[in-house]
Amino acid sequence: MSDIEQIPVTMTINGKKVQRFVEPRTLLIHFLREDLNLTGPHIGCETSHCGACTVELNGMSVKSCTMFAVQADGVELTTIEGMANADGTLSALQEGFRQMHGLQCGFCTPGMILRAHTLLKENPNPTEEEIRMGISGNLCRCTGYQNIVKAIQYAAAKLNGTEFQEAAE
Ligand code: FES
Ligand code: FES
Repeated sequence: MSDIEQIPVTMTINGKKVQRFVEPRTLLIHFLREDLNLTGPHIGCETSHCGACTVELNGMSVKSCTMFAVQADGVELTTIEGMANADGTLSALQEGFRQMHGLQCGFCTPGMILRAHTLLKENPNPTEEEIRMGISGNLCRCTGYQNIVKAIQYAAAKLNGTEFQEAAE
């Protein structure tokens, strides 16, 4: 058995209380993926550049490779696994990414959706520029971002009870 100290942590993750013991050096992203089998948050860089590991933590977007699991003791946390509606249907953002073709390989998508989720709570009617600025910490190697922006606009419209109208090119 490892003689490295194990620290108790308690979190509410996707609405469920979770209690575990973790080594002080364990990053939050590793705790989520390896201890809890929540493999939606991805690891792209582990150096806080790509945003693939983004989760929502106490209402804020956090890159989960930038903090230790012990620092998240007591928090409420949401990953992509907790983003669907309670009845299992797609949330507005998930539907937006699907309808607007906001993904190709999908590697960035869980982090992008979690970032957009926080963005739309802070600013329910963002301009295109505000969306681009808001997701600027999340990198996508595939899409060129245009359809990601449309996906977020689609979700914003749906959450505001209107229908997304694509701007004429
Ligand atoms: Fe965390 Fe890239 S894996 S920012
Ligand atoms: Fe491939 Fe964004 S869809 S990295």
